[in-house]
Amino acid sequence: MILAANLKCNHTRASFEQYAKALEEGLAGGISREDEILVFPPASAFCARVKNFTQGAQNFYPAAHGSFTGEIGGDMLAEFDVKTVLIGHSERRAILGESAELIREKFSFAAARGWRIVFCVGEDEAAFAQNCSEEFVAAQLEGIDLKYRNLILAYEPVWAIGTGRSAQCEQIEKMLRSLRTKSSAPLLYGGSVNAENIAKICAIKGCDGVLVGTASWDASKFLELIRVVSHRYTSLP
Ligand code: 13P
Repeated sequence: MILAANLKCNHTRASFEQYAKALEEGLAGGISREDEILVFPPASAFCARVKNFTQGAQNFYPAAHGSFTGEIGGDMLAEFDVKTVLIGHSERRAILGESAELIREKFSFAAARGWRIVFCVGEDEAAFAQNCSEEFVAAQLEGIDLKYRNLILAYEPVWAIGTGRSAQCEQIEKMLRSLRTKSSAPLLYGGSVNAENIAKICAIKGCDGVLVGTASWDASKFLELIRVVSHRYTSLP
């Protein structure tokens, strides 16, 4: 299973240092070889070195460097050895106004460098209500190389993010099945994953892991989630 933590705009450099330390210690006993932990901290908090988990970027600009005020380019990620990136998160699409064109540019830039891409898709509330989730997601995947070898797809329905209302297992299974017809990439689910529902979600046919927001912001809570899913992982700090 892939367990990914999207810390969003939470954690300072100081608090993420503590978070990373707790995770390193908690995972020191080892997790199953089939499991992988990805953590996406704010870029201002990247650690110089991490061992037991992979550090990824929530965002970047598709250029190595240049006149892109406020952005972070490839050179800056390389300094922290960050080669895993989130692209297409609904908060960046909706709140930060990222267009499909920019998202495609980011994808091409990351793919050209061989980075691991966690590409997020998911319908909004209106599309879900109209039973148009598959069409909505298909449109988000237009122009995206679904055969890219280092791709992970994350199905995150917008209405389930940060609401405490996770999608039902049937809906998740249906959407993962639909994604599977398009790509052989690992498939994640995200949207109000927590300690109560993670086992059920990870047991869904076709589910290769989860992308967790709120329930991952506290390192000990994220370790609890990992413990539910990773059978070989036993130690808790
Ligand atoms: P929540 O787990 O808070 O719903 O957030 C999910 C998410 O957006 C992960 O990328």
